[in-house]
Amino acid sequence: MSFTTETKVKEIALSNPQARQILEDAGVDYCCGGGKSLHDACLSAEVSAAEILERLKKNRQEVNADAASWTSASLSELTLHIREKHHQYVRAAIPSIQALLVKVKAKHGAVHPEVAVIEELFAKIGREMIMHMQKEEQILFPYIDTVERAIKGKGSIEPPFFQTVRNPIQAMMREHDSAGDLARQIRTASGDYTPPADACASFKALYEDLKRFELDLHEHVHLENNVLFPRAVEAETAIL
Ligand SMILES: [Fe+2]
Ligand SMILES: [Fe+2]
Repeated sequence: MSFTTETKVKEIALSNPQARQILEDAGVDYCCGGGKSLHDACLSAEVSAAEILERLKKNRQEVNADAASWTSASLSELTLHIREKHHQYVRAAIPSIQALLVKVKAKHGAVHPEVAVIEELFAKIGREMIMHMQKEEQILFPYIDTVERAIKGKGSIEPPFFQTVRNPIQAMMREHDSAGDLARQIRTASGDYTPPADACASFKALYEDLKRFELDLHEHVHLENNVLFPRAVEAETAIL
């Protein structure tokens, strides 16, 4: 598939992990703002769309076809992958980043008031993500798995209490927006995760970890918003 500046960023992100990395590195939002054209998304990120296109073109020549494709895996494989890769990571990262924040604030908080700001933002994103993942794991994902089993003729399906999968999906997408927004605020408060000149090893580790947390969030939300959710809607429509 060849891209133009009118191609939607989510289509570019879906094409392969390296394309996603190019967008990520350039600061172009492809998860919550995935419906935008490359032109508009680059405008928001204040980067040159032509340059990004050039990088994507070069990358496409290098990419081989076996890049992990979640667009064709089964839905239950995908929900399991999201749980095992992203949900587990988030659950482990929250307490460890929080412990680092406490340590760095105690040492540098007086000179670097931004640490307290980040601590508050991170506490909020942590609380939100824990509740969010619980809803996905207890309600949405099991329902999606049931729909798929029914399609394969291995079970039946009753209309769910939420009527259609579109309803919880809409709620989850709103929560993704909120998490994305908090992560952006953390990025801004940390000056794009740039440790100050007097930063100790813990301070540097904290910003590294926060950067990784945002990167994982982007991949996680991308897989749900742009791959799992549309496929779940399509599967439900076929059977309900
Ligand atoms: Fe999730
Ligand atoms: Fe989610």
